[in-house]
Amino acid sequence: MSQPKSANITHQEACVTRVQREARLGQRGATVWLTGLSASGKSTVARLVDQALHQRGKHSCVLDGDNIRFGLNRDLGFSPEDRNENIRRIGEVAKLFAQTGTIALTAFISPYRGDRDRNRAINAEGDFIEVFLDCALDVCEKRDPRGLYAKARAGQIPEFTGVSAPYEAPKSPEIVLHTDREDEVGSAAQVVAYLEENGYLRAPSE
Ligand code: ADX
Repeated sequence: MSQPKSANITHQEACVTRVQREARLGQRGATVWLTGLSASGKSTVARLVDQALHQRGKHSCVLDGDNIRFGLNRDLGFSPEDRNENIRRIGEVAKLFAQTGTIALTAFISPYRGDRDRNRAINAEGDFIEVFLDCALDVCEKRDPRGLYAKARAGQIPEFTGVSAPYEAPKSPEIVLHTDREDEVGSAAQVVAYLEENGYLRAPSE
């Protein structure tokens, strides 16, 4: 992991601890990292999980690739270096949310295994849940909700994931969703079930 540029900086301890926040919220904070091709269903599944958690009185948020590129990451494009930085920043932001007891759902292509593994590595065991939206390229391409695959095939979008830029599938994600053969509601239900079964929807000491 790279060292900070600044010298003479020290970590400050929080007065209200993470466990106290989690106890109040009745849940455990975590990063739920959705990865997959464009149009594999990441944003839809993230929003459905967010909604389901909200309905159960749980506290979550969605960080979405397209949205974040309008603000925090507006300085980044789609070169390998810019994607590395995009994913690094979001890993850090999601970790900050998780430390407040929030379940942070991230929806980014995040095509490089190394970037995702680095985000896992900055978290404690159990704080990073990788969810692979395993959707065949031809299905994503047929959906093509915004016509981006067609543009990429026509050479109008360079470095488009799956067409002219790589996607490295996770080797051992916590959850695999087959979004080319199951609907998004079913996929979201699997994520919620994982969170339930693994104790994320209860306070740590319960
Ligand atoms: S990532 O690779 O850095 O993780 P991110 O999830 O933030 O990508 O953004 C992907 C979204 O940007 C896609 O869903 C699509 O709408 C849009 N996009 C624009 N250009 C590209 C490109 N060259 N490759 C992939 N997605 C692109």
